[in-house]
Parts: sequence; structure tokens; C-alpha cells
Amino acid sequence: MGSDIRRVMVTGALGQIGSELVPRLQRLFGTQNVLATDIKEPSSDYSGSYERLDVLELDEVRNLVKGYDIDEVYHLAAILSAAGEMRPDLAWDVNINGFRNVLEVAREGLTNKIFHPSSIAAFGTETPRLNTPQDTVLTPRTMYGVTKVTGELLGKYFFDKFSVDVRGIRLPGVISNVAPPGGGTTDYAVEIFYEAIKKGSYECFLRSDTTLPMIYMPDCLKAFQDLMDAPSENLKHRTSYNLASLSFNPAELAAEIQKHNPQFTITYEPDFRQKIADSWPMSIDDSCAREEWSWTPDYDLEEMVDDMCFILSARHEKGEI
Ligand SMILES: NC(=O)c1ccc[n+]([C@@H]2O[C@H](COP(=O)([O-])OP(=O)(O)OC[C@H]3O[C@@H](n4cnc5c(N)ncnc54)[C@H](O)[C@@H]3O)[C@@H](O)[C@H]2O)c1
Repeated sequence: MGSDIRRVMVTGALGQIGSELVPRLQRLFGTQNVLATDIKEPSSDYSGSYERLDVLELDEVRNLVKGYDIDEVYHLAAILSAAGEMRPDLAWDVNINGFRNVLEVAREGLTNKIFHPSSIAAFGTETPRLNTPQDTVLTPRTMYGVTKVTGELLGKYFFDKFSVDVRGIRLPGVISNVAPPGGGTTDYAVEIFYEAIKKGSYECFLRSDTTLPMIYMPDCLKAFQDLMDAPSENLKHRTSYNLASLSFNPAELAAEIQKHNPQFTITYEPDFRQKIADSWPMSIDDSCAREEWSWTPDYDLEEMVDDMCFILSARHEKGEI
């Protein structure tokens, strides 16, 4: 991690990823150098700089970036896959026009660098599902996936045309224990831990054999920082890096949780999200991320489950969940 101090702004900062990215950035750059923004209001005990920001309002994006003299934007504001299938117009608007506003402010020279996450939802049923290559067929079947492919291309266009330094990763499902996930197809892999601890059982909305790529939050945040710190000239796939970490199905995850809680039971009641999951890869070839910015994950399935169970059990004992 580079040691130089930057002033950073995070959009969508109160979501699953932002809730853990912001404290990490505050530790790295100093609380005074991190501006968190979201369309929602933060809790009363929120610590650090916060401004309410709807990313669809170009003037507001511009005023904040200019007013706080922001060097880098982590653009996390988005509507995720399952939520996006419920409201496809909103998903297009937030995910494309919101991103376009951040790009525009960078094109005007008001900020230097943008992080914009893509997703495994960029792939589709025609994409090879095992060890999915970096350069492959992108035929998403969800509006979310359509916006992610468009976002990758838009970011690349702004880099080629206007030298805007945009960087992005095709994130797998993110597993975490601070903020709940925001309506994605991989949410089961977080919910299962809370239900195992609180109720001892979980009804899964995907089939038992649905293998999907996942990543634990500490590895996800490490990937963000490693990519943002990489020398620009090394980045050949700058807006769309495949990223692999974990790949497992609900039955395998349940078996790992049962090692900590032998009484835990799981049942399966697939819903509309099964179709989305069936159009996504099972495992990812991330050799470009490894070669171009030295990506390597720290957690395997067992270590991730150990850590999740330990942290959430402690929170449960304190009455927090
Ligand atoms: N969490 C995952 O598993 C995952 C996987 C792949 C990609 N991603 C991507 O990572 C990014 C962050 O995901 P997340 O899981 O934190 O999502 P999330 O749904 O938990 O959080 C998104 C945040 O954006 C905010 N938001 C929505 N509309 C807004 C608007 N108009 N203006 C400002 N803020 C708005 C929401 O209030 C929310 O706090 C997204 O781009 C998402 O597509 C996430």
C-alpha cells in the first residue's frame, strides 16, 4: 500500500462495502481526508465527514468533489442484481447516469482517479462458467449485468478519450459481517451466518449445488487498494479485472458452518434469484489481476468461516445481532 496521503470521497458509503471501506480509508489517510456520502442518512453515532449525496445530481457531485478538494472517488453507489431486476429503470439510472456524473467531474479535471466496481454479473449464459477467462463473451441477462458491462466500457472510453484514470474489478459475491448486503444474488452467503447464530437454521434461496465465486471483505478491500496503488502503465484491463478468491456452493458452506455449530440445519427453497445465479460463472481465471497488479487473496473457505463465526458470535453475545 502506498503511504502518500490522498483526499478521498466514497459514494454509496453506507452500503455493505462502504461501511467497511470508509473506516479502512480513514485509518490509511486520516479521518479528516475521507468524505463519506450516500443518499441515506447515517446513524447518529457515525464518525467522520459525511454529506448526503444523490449521485444523479451532477451539480452536487461537482460541488462536493470541488469543495473537499477530492483526489480520488470510490464510486460504490449502485442498485444491485436482485434489487435491479425489481426496478430495472432505477438500476440503469443510478448505475449508468450516476457513474457518468462522477466521470464527468473527473473529465473536468476536478479529481484524479476513480474506483468503479464491476461484477461477475457482467458475464452471461454464453460465457464459459468454469475458470471464466478475462477476455470473454459478455452477455448478461440482468439489467444489473447490462449496467456493469456498460460501466466497464464507459470507464475505458473516458480513459482512452480524456485520460480519466478509472480502475475497476469484476467483484464476486462479497461476504462480510458489518453491514447487511444490499439486494444481490450472493446475499445468502452472508444471511446464512446470521441465521445460523440466531436460529440454528437457514432456508436458502439457491439450490444446494449452486457454485458461485465469492470473496471475504478483508480480501475485497485489499484488492481495491492494491489496484488503486498500482502503476497506471501496468494496467491493460483497467476497468474490468477478473478477481478470484473463493468458490463454493450452499451445501459446502453449510458443511463448514456445521463444524462450528453441529446442530445447524439448512433447507432449500430456490426463488427468482436461482435463474440469475445460473447465468453466472462458477469459478474465475484472475491471472491478469495477478500479473498486472500482483493480486493474491489471503482467505480460503475454512479461514473465512472461522473468522465470520468468531466475529458474529461475539456480536451476538453482546446483543448487537
Ligand atoms: N456486495 C457485493 O457482493 C458486490 C458484488 C459485486 C459488485 N458489487 C458492487 O460494489 C458496489 C458497492 O456494493 P454494495 O454491496 O456496497 O452495495 P449496497 O447496495 O450495500 O450499497 C449501495 C449504496 O448505494 C446507495 N445509493 C443507492 N442509490 C444512490 C444514489 N442515487 N445516490 C447515492 N447513493 C445511492 C445506497 O443507499 C447504498 O447505501 C456496487 O457497485 C456493486 O455493484 C458488490
